[in-house]
Amino acid sequence: MKLPGHLFIKDGHLHIEGHDCCDLVKKYGTPLYVTSEDRVCGQYRSYQKALSKRYNKVQVLFAAKANGNLAVLRALAGLGAGADIFSSGELHLALEAGMPAEKLLFNGSSKSPGDLSLAVRKGVKVSVDSLDELRQLDAAAEAAGKVAEIAFRVNPALDVPTHPKIATGLATSKFGIPHKEIPAAYREALACKNIRPVGLHCHIGSQILDFEPFIRATGVMVRIAKDLTDMGVNLEFIDLGGGLGIPYHHDTDPAPTPEEYAARVVPVFKAGIEACGITPELWVEPGRSLVADSTVLLTRVNSVKAAHKRFANVDAGFNLLIRPAMYDAYHEVIIANRADTKETTGYTITGPICESGDILAHDRKLPPLAAGDIIAVLDAGAYGFAMSSQYNSRPRCAEVLVRGDRESLMRREETIHDLCATMERPPWQR
Ligand code: LLP
Repeated sequence: MKLPGHLFIKDGHLHIEGHDCCDLVKKYGTPLYVTSEDRVCGQYRSYQKALSKRYNKVQVLFAAKANGNLAVLRALAGLGAGADIFSSGELHLALEAGMPAEKLLFNGSSKSPGDLSLAVRKGVKVSVDSLDELRQLDAAAEAAGKVAEIAFRVNPALDVPTHPKIATGLATSKFGIPHKEIPAAYREALACKNIRPVGLHCHIGSQILDFEPFIRATGVMVRIAKDLTDMGVNLEFIDLGGGLGIPYHHDTDPAPTPEEYAARVVPVFKAGIEACGITPELWVEPGRSLVADSTVLLTRVNSVKAAHKRFANVDAGFNLLIRPAMYDAYHEVIIANRADTKETTGYTITGPICESGDILAHDRKLPPLAAGDIIAVLDAGAYGFAMSSQYNSRPRCAEVLVRGDRESLMRREETIHDLCATMERPPWQR
């Protein structure tokens, strides 16, 4: 199986950078998320380089929802990344990681009064999702004696080839304002005392392996930019969102790169803004393509069972990686402690959660498995830990970061105490 450079097999064991996954498991236990900092940084640099060699005003905003660990955010902040944030929590984490407020965009279709006032107080730009939200933001800015800088989130009504649950630019999607109504929205924004419209934003979906949808979306965006410029809006940035996919099947799926993305999309962007006579910053918001393949989830086989199917029951389930259950996502798996043993036997890999849908991988050809084997689930760095839960009252596992020959916890394992820590005892039960 093709592996990215930071993952390799040596003496039968899977390694991440220089680290033997079996040694990491001995030290930290299972389940365990392990992330390569160099891989995250390398992917960021690829985006930055590919875009900035074609256009000189570029800002990469990491989609913080994909991986909210402060160590990951700090590594990216150190390289100059901003962030697409989707909640007050993500705003706090991005600032805490050292990302300056001007490199953040507060996204989302359902922001609370608290979210809006925090964005205003911190001077974070807001991607406004409706006219109702615009009016609320204007009032929040007025109350704070500030002016809020905004973009509108465009719904470009584009069908994209991806799982329906992660297509966000469909006409029927909950996100954004229909593209035809965008000029009227800016007209209203221009009339607001405490609002300054400075950008235009879209995001068409996630896990997109084909460039055509991005090219079409960019076309829609620059056409709208022309109308807005003619209306007198001074666009300082155009944000094309994220969405570039990764090869789920390492050997057979297309593997689009930031370089190809930039080569296809930037020319459309440049031709469009030249026609408008403007030079806004180009913003992109990759999540998955920056962090997904940086990370493995290591999980131990608790037992094997030959029933109607052959099951390998492991200690991580959809409590820690919900993507296979939620999106039928395919994650490659490797037996980390016997990675060079012949793959002869079909297994379905199931987690410890009390649900039939708790399956990490269906019908995979693997070496014969036994209790104690360590399975590495690949491409777990995006929407992996970030979407974890404590379902079945399972404390979440630890996360380790490796960099060169160093390794460190970046999140400790939760304990039973953590499970109870936020619960209160009603007085009548005392
Ligand atoms: N920008 C906005 C406004 C977004 O909503 C998202 C993702 C991104 C950027 C980053 O998209 P990416 O480059 O990661 O595709 N939990 C799902 C993915 C949900 C994506 C939500 N929005 C999954 O595990 O596949």
